[in-house]
Amino acid sequence: MSENCGISRWDDPNEINARLKKLTSQPIWEVDDEYYNGEIMPYYDEKCKASKAVYEEAKNYIPGGVQHNLAFNKPFPMCMDRAEGAYLYDKDGNKYIDFLQAGGPTILGSNYEPVRKRVEALLEECGPVTGLLHESELMLAKEINKHMPNVEMFRMLGSGTEACMASLRIARIATGKKRIIKMGGAYHGWSDQLVYGLKIPGSRGLLESHGIPGSDYRTTDECRPNDLNMLEALLKRNRLKGGTAAVMVEPVGPESGTRPIARDYNKHVRELCDKYGALLIFDEVVTGFRVGISGAQGYFDVVPDLTIFGKIIAGGYPAAGGVGGKKEYAQLMAAGLATGKHRAYVGGTLAANPLSCVAGTAAIQEIAAQNACEKAGKMGDRLTDGLKELIDKYGLPFVAYNQGSICHLECTGAMSFDFSSMSFIKSALGILKNKDMMYVRKDSMERMGAAYMANGIVTLAGSRLYTSMADTPEIIDEALNRFENVFKHVKKTDKGLV
Ligand SMILES: Cc1ncc(COP(=O)(O)O)c(C=O)c1O
Repeated sequence: MSENCGISRWDDPNEINARLKKLTSQPIWEVDDEYYNGEIMPYYDEKCKASKAVYEEAKNYIPGGVQHNLAFNKPFPMCMDRAEGAYLYDKDGNKYIDFLQAGGPTILGSNYEPVRKRVEALLEECGPVTGLLHESELMLAKEINKHMPNVEMFRMLGSGTEACMASLRIARIATGKKRIIKMGGAYHGWSDQLVYGLKIPGSRGLLESHGIPGSDYRTTDECRPNDLNMLEALLKRNRLKGGTAAVMVEPVGPESGTRPIARDYNKHVRELCDKYGALLIFDEVVTGFRVGISGAQGYFDVVPDLTIFGKIIAGGYPAAGGVGGKKEYAQLMAAGLATGKHRAYVGGTLAANPLSCVAGTAAIQEIAAQNACEKAGKMGDRLTDGLKELIDKYGLPFVAYNQGSICHLECTGAMSFDFSSMSFIKSALGILKNKDMMYVRKDSMERMGAAYMANGIVTLAGSRLYTSMADTPEIIDEALNRFENVFKHVKKTDKGLV
């Protein structure tokens, strides 16, 4: 393993998919009612009163009572007061081991002091924003380029969503072609063109597409994850339909590796892009500076034309997003007054504010200096290995796997549905028929998430866990004890099959 690489092993995707298929072809296994009603619910009723009070009031002022999709915890969102390293503390003072890590950005651990100090110094001097050039913008672009040399230029934006939108514009201008191919189930933010096949492959524009005109998807194609034959067939077909401007991938697999891919998949995607004259866009919003200091592109040794950044790029501080790549492409986002040439118009009043740039530069420097990716990756391996042992010990059908510090624990297979092999009509019918089952499984996944939380473990929606440099073997082992407390109470139900 090279220095500061966070992935020490790569599982066979066929094996994981076979286990996931087995999981979804049997009824749901979940914590039994006696434990859930007798111990889990009382935890929330008795020990989380302050969180509940905030949530109840927030429902009057905030749609759904919470601002962030990841905070929709069952039975109600926990209100967090304090974050430190590997731990979170809620408003009632309860302490949790934090495997959400803000959805990925805090690989150094939450509220990492050396980064915070740099931000505080900046605030003292200049405040968060001036709207004019600040040297920290240059520092951040240079820091990224140091670790990912093919990101010759970097344009900072406000979020990963914006960065994905911008990359599509660049690809169309650069190639003069129209269509975009994304992978089924991949998440590239919530912009109109990319809420397509979101989370569930083959769901096309059906599940989460309300409020988006169908015409917005007209030039988006969805390819089955890890299927190179289908990708080539789409690229070939698209030659007669305006051509493919770009193939966009999450390089460890759609939805942060929830749908695993073969180790050499990205290399072949690169070859196909070259063959058909499409740009290759790596969405490294999660993987950049997490799976390795040189990102997934370093780990796979593949050079994308454009790289999307988010999350870690501002060290967990706000306004985190950007696009980088070869000069010829990145130049197309040049700021300033119109040049008369075709260019991708991007902007954002607070994009690249000094606060975000200082935080991002400091975070990347610390990630490099502390070898954070490798440390977090080792803890991801330890956590996943421990979960696998527990799954075997209790004879559960659950599936655990990881890509370094990105760990997956599928208890119900709610995210494993796939409609992509169906025809469009069949798919629409299949979705209607299976949607209910999917939601039953999702509900059960959240019930497991509630049980983990009541045992002092914060997960991403009960099925994903991010480790950080702040995790130690002792913290991981303590977390595994808590997972065991939950797994002990898991029983097979008669729910979850059509
Ligand atoms: C792979 C990927 N791309 C894009 C995004 C969107 O980023 P943002 O939430 O900053 O808009 C996310 C967010 O989780 C992501 O995981």
